[in-house]
Amino acid sequence: MDKKPVLVSGIKPTGDLHIGNYFGAMRQLVELTKEGKYRPFIFVADYHALNTMQDAEEMRRRTRELVMAYIAVGLDPKEVVLFKQSDVPAHTELCWIFDTITDMPYLARAHAFKAEVDKLTDSMPARRFLSAKLEQLTNIGVGLFNYPMLMAADILLYDAEVVPVGQDQKQHIEIARDTAEKFNRVYKTEVFKLPEAHIMTDVAIVPGIDGRKMSKSYNNVIPLFGSHDDLKKAVMSIVTDSSGDRPENVYRIHRLFRSEVNLDALYDEHRGNYKALKETLIEDLDRYLAPMRAKYEELKENPDIVEEVLKAGKREARAVSEAKMEQVRKAIGVA
Ligand code: TYM
Repeated sequence: MDKKPVLVSGIKPTGDLHIGNYFGAMRQLVELTKEGKYRPFIFVADYHALNTMQDAEEMRRRTRELVMAYIAVGLDPKEVVLFKQSDVPAHTELCWIFDTITDMPYLARAHAFKAEVDKLTDSMPARRFLSAKLEQLTNIGVGLFNYPMLMAADILLYDAEVVPVGQDQKQHIEIARDTAEKFNRVYKTEVFKLPEAHIMTDVAIVPGIDGRKMSKSYNNVIPLFGSHDDLKKAVMSIVTDSSGDRPENVYRIHRLFRSEVNLDALYDEHRGNYKALKETLIEDLDRYLAPMRAKYEELKENPDIVEEVLKAGKREARAVSEAKMEQVRKAIGVA
């Protein structure tokens, strides 16, 4: 039996990957899995993506792209169980079981749900949503509300101890911990281990070109596999403000590629010359991303690889999760 601690992480195939995904989550995955200290399960969160993406062709394409991306950034499919969430039915089965021990007000405190409620009910703060007319929440799917339960299942099925993610996922990992504790308490068992989030503090929130968190939904991203021209376009539109000594939004992104000492010298040298600083950032980005981009392009030419990797991942992830589900079914009395 493999006694290494388990690492679990996933990404939704909902849009082009950006450097926020890479520095916030993917780079840690590569580093942690290279160390060989963990048993890694890394997946495409396609069922989570269904909340916002309902186009079959796009789902297929983006799923393939995400698998290629995982490999292109440096994950070794021989060392990592790389799979699709939807290939492992235990995720949704366990999600349902968790639903039955979770109350509505608890899930209503989840950030993503509250943010959606806030959007719909401008005049009504989220904390008062329970007294709001339910009919106003028509745009909020049950899937969005329930999102954290599926995520708890993703993590707990594999006895994950370490979950590398960006800061925005922290609450979800806490919910997974609470849910593991609750299940163990309700069923007087020790079936689930308590997972820990693994967040790199320096890149917990990678800023976008407008200074807010880099995010597909804010349209402020620097693409991970963009061409030189795409990078140039994104960097040239970084919002600069001249109130301070240096262009903070440029500096904060640049900090991902250079040490503070090195960067401070560069920014001193080009004080006030934002164009020169942006041009250096484009070069740094391009140099850093080019090998991953080349690997990604190479994988596109070999479509069979994705199928093979997913097939092997499915087999392994099913075997491990099914063993856990047997314990769960016994604990709840359906087996
Ligand atoms: P997703 O697909 O939104 O994002 C994937 C990963 O990228 C990180 N990230 C960032 N980190 C730092 N700065 C940013 N600007 C930034 N933008 C994105 C996210 O924190 C995340 O780690 N719910 C998850 C997917 C998921 C999952 C799981 C993760 C489903 N089940 C189980 C871990 C374990 C999500 O929506 O990530």
